Amino acid sequence: MASSAPSPATSLRVLFFFLLIVTFASGEAGDYGLHPRTEKTTHLQLYFHELNFGPDATVIRVAQAPTTDKFVTAFGAVNIVDDMMKAGPDTTSRLVGRFQGVFVPASQTEFAALAMANVVFVDGTYNGSSLTILGRNSIFATVREMPIVGGSGHFRLARGYALLKTRVNDPNTGLVIVQYNVTVVHY
Ligand SMILES: *[C@@H]1O[C@H](CO)[C@@H](O)[C@H](O)[C@H]1NC(C)=O
Ligand SMILES: *[C@@H]1O[C@H](CO)[C@@H](O)[C@H](O)[C@H]1NC(C)=O
Repeated sequence: MASSAPSPATSLRVLFFFLLIVTFASGEAGDYGLHPRTEKTTHLQLYFHELNFGPDATVIRVAQAPTTDKFVTAFGAVNIVDDMMKAGPDTTSRLVGRFQGVFVPASQTEFAALAMANVVFVDGTYNGSSLTILGRNSIFATVREMPIVGGSGHFRLARGYALLKTRVNDPNTGLVIVQYNVTVVHY
């Protein structure tokens, strides 16, 4: 019976020629002035500050399902946020960015949301640059991890993750403060 799979020797030859082509192609690109860029890793420690109600609320519920109130998890609600990213855990800490996005409780049984946001920096070295976060936020977990899927400006082509830990969750004032330890790889 004839087999259509190439022999190992043929595969190796193909691989060798492929590598040869890649080597020459990248050498040629270098001649045309495309400078190789090195990846950088940046660590940031930020503090997310949110006010859930009151005149300065940073969260607004824009929609919910007719059944949302039946779920203790607020399943089916859609919230838009314009939260603060500060340099420290105090309400007086310096504002370094805004956390602007959508927060959607997406579990009927767990306090777990689909969170998507752009963190846009408004101060310092990264002013004007942004990071895009998209993932599952299990809000009552001690530590949760959110993927960073992109960025702009200083953080172009970014990818990474943030480790989140709630520092304050005050039901009386509606204030929530979450520490964000961010690790991001970019160019
Ligand atoms: C950040 O950038 C904006 C827009 O370019 C500018 O108006 C603002 O003054 C900058 N802020 C700081 C603190 O550099
Ligand atoms: C965040 O970083 C700080 C300082 O390195 C560390 O003390 C803290 O444990 C980190 N938090 C998490 C959730 O990793």
